[in-house]
Amino acid sequence: MRLILLGPPGAGKGTQAQRLVHKHHIVQLSTGEMLRAAVAAGTPIGLQAKDIMASGALVPDEVVISIISDRLDQPDMKNGFILDGFPRTVPQAAALDDLLKKKHIKLDAVVELRVNESALLNRVETRVAEMRARGEEVRIDDTPEVLSKRLASYRTLTEPLIHYYSERRKLLTVDGMMTIEHVTREINRILAAIGAVEPKAAAPKRAEMAARKTAKPVAKKAAKTAGKPARAAAKAGKVASKGSKKAKKTARKTGKKAGRTIAKRGAKKASKKVTKRRAKR
Ligand code: AP5
Ligand code: MG
Repeated sequence: MRLILLGPPGAGKGTQAQRLVHKHHIVQLSTGEMLRAAVAAGTPIGLQAKDIMASGALVPDEVVISIISDRLDQPDMKNGFILDGFPRTVPQAAALDDLLKKKHIKLDAVVELRVNESALLNRVETRVAEMRARGEEVRIDDTPEVLSKRLASYRTLTEPLIHYYSERRKLLTVDGMMTIEHVTREINRILAAIGAVEPKAAAPKRAEMAARKTAKPVAKKAAKTAGKPARAAAKAGKVASKGSKKAKKTARKTGKKAGRTIAKRGAKKASKKVTKRRAKR
C-alpha cells in the first residue's frame, strides 16, 4: 500500500500514519519528523531548516524532495509506505509523480483528513500538554502564533493539492472530526473499498469479533427454541391442508411468522384454531 496523508497542521496525519503502519506493516515517511531529527543532529539540512520550521514556513522544495528521493530507494520501502506531510506544494507533488514513475511505483490513494480549523489549536495544545507530561521536548512550532502561520502556508501552498489529486482520481476525503478510532476505521474501510488493502485487514477489531463469538451460542439457542413453534406451525399447516381453505391460509400465514423465529405465540394460536375447527367438524 502506498499512501499520502494530507491535512492541515494538527489534523491527525501523524496519529493516523502510526496506526496504519502498525496495522499494515508499512513504513511512515514524515518529512516533519525527518527535518526535526536533522535539526536535532545539527546536520547541514537541519541548520538550513531550523529557522524556517520555527517560523511556520515551508522548507524549500528541493530539500524535501531530495530527502524523499533518497528514502524511497531504501529496501524497507518495498512493502509500502505512508507519506505524512509530503508533498506539500504542487512542485513537490509533480516531483513525486516523476520519482514514482521512474521507480515503477504506483500510488494507491491520497487521504485528505478534513478538520475544522477551530479544532486545530485545541489539538495542538493537547499535544503540547501530552508531550510535557511524557517529559518530552515540546515542538518549537506548536504555539498559537506559529500555528496560524502554518495554517496560512497550508491554505496557500498545500490546499491546491486537493484539486491536483482529485483531478488524478486519487483523492479520498475522510471526516477528521471523528474520534481517532473512527477516523482509522473509516480510512481502512475506504482503502479496502478501493482494493488497496485486503478487506480482512479492514475487518472489525478483536473486541468486536469476541463480542460476536459470544453472541453466537445465544443466537443458536434462540434458533433452537424458535425451531419448536416453527415446527409446530409447519405441522399445523400440514393438518390444515386436510381441512378448509381458510384454515390452510391461517396456518400457512402463521407458519411463515414462526419461521421468522419470534412467532412462538402465533404458532400456538394457529394450532389452537385448527384444533378447534377440527373439534367442530
Ligand atoms: P509537520 O511535522 O509535518 O507538521 P504539520 O503538518 O504542521 O502537522 P502536525 O505534525 O502538527 O499535525 P498532524 O496532522 O501530524 O497531527 P497529529 O497526528 O500530531 O511539519 C512541521 C514543519 O516541517 C512544517 O511547518 C515545515 O516547516 C516543515 N516541513 C515538513 N514537511 C515539509 C514539506 N514537505 N515541505 C516543506 N516543509 C516541510 O495530531 C495532533 C494532536 O491531535 C495530537 O495530540 C493527537 O493526539 C490529536 N488528534 C489526532 N487526531 C485526533 C482526532 N481525530 N480527534 C481528537 N484528537 C486528535
Ligand atoms: Mg505530524
